[in-house]
Amino acid sequence: MRRKVIAGNWKMNKNPEEAKTYLKEIIPMVKDAKSEVVLCVPYIDLKCMVKHASGSNVKIGAQNMHWEEAGAYTGEVSGSMLKSIGVEYVIIGHSERRQYFAETDETVNKKVKAAFTNELKPIVCVGESLEQREEGKTKEVITRQTRLALEGLTDEQVENTIIAYEPIWAIGTGKTATSEDANNSIKEIRDEICKIYGQMTAERVIIQYGGSVKPTNAKELFTTSDIDGALVGGASLKPEDFAGIVNY
Ligand code: 13P
Repeated sequence: MRRKVIAGNWKMNKNPEEAKTYLKEIIPMVKDAKSEVVLCVPYIDLKCMVKHASGSNVKIGAQNMHWEEAGAYTGEVSGSMLKSIGVEYVIIGHSERRQYFAETDETVNKKVKAAFTNELKPIVCVGESLEQREEGKTKEVITRQTRLALEGLTDEQVENTIIAYEPIWAIGTGKTATSEDANNSIKEIRDEICKIYGQMTAERVIIQYGGSVKPTNAKELFTTSDIDGALVGGASLKPEDFAGIVNY
């Protein structure tokens, strides 16, 4: 049985003071969670979040990283820097980074490898746009993104990669994919992993759904065969909403 991972993605929200207040509220609310609970927060909040989450079951992640260890990359943060302050997870290839910051399948792959070099757990985002969906290209897009993100990884690394299937049209729009639709796309991703890395590996990969997940639709999504948790944007910003999803 795969364990569910429920991760919040705060995107560009909350300063360290706000982050600390949030954490104080959320920790008791999710202390009995059966799922792994992760909060992926802005770089500036990471150090204080790691400190104040210590001893709880809330794990802390970043939302991006650079693939190089160090060097002349103004404004960037490396995997070894994240590791040095106790960060455990990192989101890679979120559609907003692909769309606004020119992230490609190639940079995603480099970042995934660098995450493993630094013993960070990558949460790799894949997902089709509305246009691609309407053209019937969903499967093609998500299996390609998955294949290229995982290229050159060992079986063990693939097993330890978390994939987040986030259809772009469902992000921040209030439109959730139906649980059946999301489950089907996630199965297609798992089948692709099975083709390349074999069934044992594919069965072990955690594949989340993301896109307008709320306390009211979490249970339906999480009781399907293949959805192993969620990457939650908007609803992760309020402790009671995020806790409602975690304790579905
Ligand atoms: P929403 O939950 O706000 O739709 O965002 C999803 C997302 O992009 C999480 O990474």
